[in-house]
Amino acid sequence: MPHRNAAVLDRSEPWIQNAIERVLLSEDQIRARIAELGQQISKDYAGQHVILVSILKGSVIFLADLVRSLNIPVGVDFMAVSSYVGSETSGIVRVTMDLRESAEGKHVILVEDIVDTGLTLAYLKNLLKARHVKSLKICALLDKKESHRVEVPVDYLGFKIPSEFVVGYGLDYSEQFRNLPFVGVLKREYYSKPDKKQK
Ligand code: IMP
Repeated sequence: MPHRNAAVLDRSEPWIQNAIERVLLSEDQIRARIAELGQQISKDYAGQHVILVSILKGSVIFLADLVRSLNIPVGVDFMAVSSYVGSETSGIVRVTMDLRESAEGKHVILVEDIVDTGLTLAYLKNLLKARHVKSLKICALLDKKESHRVEVPVDYLGFKIPSEFVVGYGLDYSEQFRNLPFVGVLKREYYSKPDKKQK
């Protein structure tokens, strides 16, 4: 008998119904797009070894699916940065956890959940370039292009989305909703209470 995931999310639960305005990207849409990204990356890096650097915590679910869509040898590493208070960016990026292994001389792809102002990726791009990586590209699941304050070219993009606060598929609001299998728009009333957020 095929294995079935025992815990299936019940979308009629009040904690979802009261918070999510609408589903922006379904599980099927996300899965299909990641398969395409995986093919593209595998083609571009054929014959090379690449390190996927996941920016904690929002990109871990994306990373987990992306890495399994690749047909090339890959390593993974993690960095954590903090820049957000509630749903508003403070504009100050701080590395709170650094890579375990040196990235020098390696092909690196930064894996990010979402580009909003672009400040996080611009900062990390400069930081890694200064460490003399062999090559550096950016893969992001979501991009709010209208919210950019600095231009950061995304080499591998899942979806361009409107400038609304979204949660699910790894993305949180104050450590909630990461476990939703889809990406949903958070209702506006959830933005009102600011609190400290670690990405
Ligand atoms: P940026 O530096 O403004 O581009 O911010 C990128 C980071 O902000 C992402 O890695 C997320 O952690 C967070 N972020 C931006 N927009 C959203 C959102 O709509 N939902 C959840 N997190 C977000």
